[in-house]
Amino acid sequence: ETVEWEAASYDMGGHDTYMHKEISEQPDAVDRVLRGRIDDRFSTVHLGGLNLDPREARGIRRVKILGCGTSYHAGLIGASLIEGMARIPADAEPASEFRYRNPVVDPDTLYIAVSQSGETYDVLAAVQELKRKGARVLGVVNVVGSAIAREADGGVYVHAGPEVCVVSTKCFTNTVVAFALLAVHLGRIRDLSVTDGKRIIEGLRKLPSQIQEILAQEEDIKKLAAQYADAKSMMFIGRVRGYPVALEASLKLKEISYIHAEAYPASELKHGPLALIEPSLPTVAIVPDDDLLEKNRAALEEIKARSGRILAVAHREQEKADHTIVVPKNEDELDPILMGIPLQLLAYHTALAMGRDIDKPRNLAKSVTVE
Ligand code: G6P
Repeated sequence: ETVEWEAASYDMGGHDTYMHKEISEQPDAVDRVLRGRIDDRFSTVHLGGLNLDPREARGIRRVKILGCGTSYHAGLIGASLIEGMARIPADAEPASEFRYRNPVVDPDTLYIAVSQSGETYDVLAAVQELKRKGARVLGVVNVVGSAIAREADGGVYVHAGPEVCVVSTKCFTNTVVAFALLAVHLGRIRDLSVTDGKRIIEGLRKLPSQIQEILAQEEDIKKLAAQYADAKSMMFIGRVRGYPVALEASLKLKEISYIHAEAYPASELKHGPLALIEPSLPTVAIVPDDDLLEKNRAALEEIKARSGRILAVAHREQEKADHTIVVPKNEDELDPILMGIPLQLLAYHTALAMGRDIDKPRNLAKSVTVE
């Protein structure tokens, strides 16, 4: 499953920045990560490079996902997809934290290293340490043949294509989709029903056109960005599945606009950050139409009662919000993939309005290959 990329794919192709080009490429990129992997006959997914036979897959007792930056955030969503569909306890941790805390390495744990470049030193060092201790490590990697891909026992290529902008957009989305594929694969070997396998597969197939629908709202999102670009700081909130979306959206905004932003689980608002809420601190809230909708609406009310401005990303207009970006509904499990996309555009247009160097933010590098 090797894909060769020609020099032409590094052109800006009529876009003003690589970030904009890469955001726009997401429908095709998602199409590519799905291609050839879905098996409708058994409502499952085949992943050629996994090197994990069904008996081994059944023996996994835990999944631990490691990555840095945006890849760590993709790993957080990956963990919830795997835990939800394959019913294996799963969590994600920044690779550098894991390395330095002398973790217990357990033979029944499947370790998964996530990296766009496949060269991030902290992730590579964590993989090497794990392998030295006899663990099984898979890679969820974009760059084919990279150091982490070579070091891992097997894995899933993300096939996002070359990503040039320092901040990751299309690779984040594709990484999460790759995790959804892995979750269906592991789930169908374990306890995920045919019906649920089918449901998720159908949801995955809808993603490219739904992403296109979101991208078509760019002009509206640009207008919203102009209204929020004066903020000194922004709060991002989400609950359970929405929380990693909030984390990633807040990272994106701070990386390219240099506006301070933080992400909190919506449920933690009342345990501290509510003290910060006032008209000058806007909140971006992730509000999917799922079983937590009412809980999320209650958080919007708490913010409104303190005169906070709210921008909601939701499946329908939110009364308590000052503005709502409405995104298409997919299966609950896959909603986080779509809900992050308008916030890539929000960060982009905020940074653009501020005249920032979007493709090369100050102090950051595309891949950090040293300690
Ligand atoms: C750097 C980049 C981030 C990226 C992180 C992990 O810090 O600035 O955008 O998410 O490295 O990179 P990787 O290539 O391992 O995904």
